[in-house]
Amino acid sequence: TYIVTDACIRCKFTDCVEVCPVDCFYEGENMLVIHPDECIDCGVCEPECPIEAIKPDTEDDADGKWLALNSKYATVWPNITVRKDPPADYKEFETITNKLEKYFS
Ligand code: SF4
Ligand code: F3S
Repeated sequence: TYIVTDACIRCKFTDCVEVCPVDCFYEGENMLVIHPDECIDCGVCEPECPIEAIKPDTEDDADGKWLALNSKYATVWPNITVRKDPPADYKEFETITNKLEKYFS
């Protein structure tokens, strides 16, 4: 499966949702996640993200935390299939790394 990772937090470009053939993106307030059981591993979303937030789960952190986070929230957050504008302050967050602790919620 593919997973959404740290870079998405507070940027949320949502270009990814338009290309997914199985519509398996889910939207939280500050990031999107992929439903690992629905993703068919086609890989077309990966290059669509301008900040490279999407990766195959083989590139997850050693503790597997992003796959766990995607799995957890994909069953809670609503489905998103249509692109929308990113948050007004997205530029402030584009270059920040390790956003999970401070900016996830
Ligand atoms: Fe959707 Fe394909 Fe991306 Fe999986 S890899 S989330 S199926 S576009
Ligand atoms: Fe996030 Fe990139 Fe999609 S920033 S919303 S994974 S296009």
